[in-house]
Amino acid sequence: MNIILLGPPGAGKGTQAQRLVERHGMKQLSTGDMLRAAVKAQTPVGLKAKAVMEAGQLVSDEIVSALIGDELDAMPATQGAIFDGYPRTAPQAESLVAILEGRGRKLDHVIELDVDEDALVERITGRYTCATCGKGYHDKFEKPAVEGTCDKCGGHEFKRRPDDNEETVRTRMAEYRAKTAPILPIYEAQGIVSRVDGMADMDDVTAAIEAIIAAD
Ligand code: AP5
Repeated sequence: MNIILLGPPGAGKGTQAQRLVERHGMKQLSTGDMLRAAVKAQTPVGLKAKAVMEAGQLVSDEIVSALIGDELDAMPATQGAIFDGYPRTAPQAESLVAILEGRGRKLDHVIELDVDEDALVERITGRYTCATCGKGYHDKFEKPAVEGTCDKCGGHEFKRRPDDNEETVRTRMAEYRAKTAPILPIYEAQGIVSRVDGMADMDDVTAAIEAIIAAD
């Protein structure tokens, strides 16, 4: 099964993708995570992407589509993919068609997380991850069971993203409205879009996504 999780910054795409990985053994393909890894490793892609990401703008379509193709090539053909943060523009949506066809895959669901943008600033500015295993947390909505210790790996170091400040978040939201939201009709025409209330409790969002998948 191949699924796109669509929604503005902070909608919960990464949170729900991690849960799908745990429950179904699918692979999360987050272009944001791939780009952050490239920035950290100072690869040519990372050097190009760093300033663009810190400004909250979109990295070039060619770069992200190439990253997605490479990741799919490295996966077993039978493993399902969760596209998290990709596609984000009409050209990326077009590239994805060719990328999937070329690998004998098809898109099963586009799940749109429907959210109130004003509440997202609080979500994003409060989030952090374990520096060791990447598990996501939030100052208010998802704290570790023992403060300062990661529930998953026991690590004690945590980090925050440089683009998770209010000014950059507003730019990221504007980019979403201008370039990403307009691709939804492409998938609506294919009859594969499901909407989930992304403002609901995290577990309720998970349950709604599970119900969509189970209906297949
Ligand atoms: P990317 O990393 O994709 O960021 P994003 O789309 O802005 O999404 P986020 O990761 O911020 O949010 P999310 O929806 O995953 O929310 P999360 O689950 O963490 O992209 C970063 C940058 O990379 C872009 O700005 C761009 O520059 C570049 N880029 C990436 N892909 C690209 C592409 N395809 N093309 C061009 N450029 C690209 O949740 C947020 C917080 O809320 C968490 O703390 C979580 O615990 C909490 N939370 C989640 N769900 C709930 C809930 N139901 N209730 C309460 N709290 C919740």
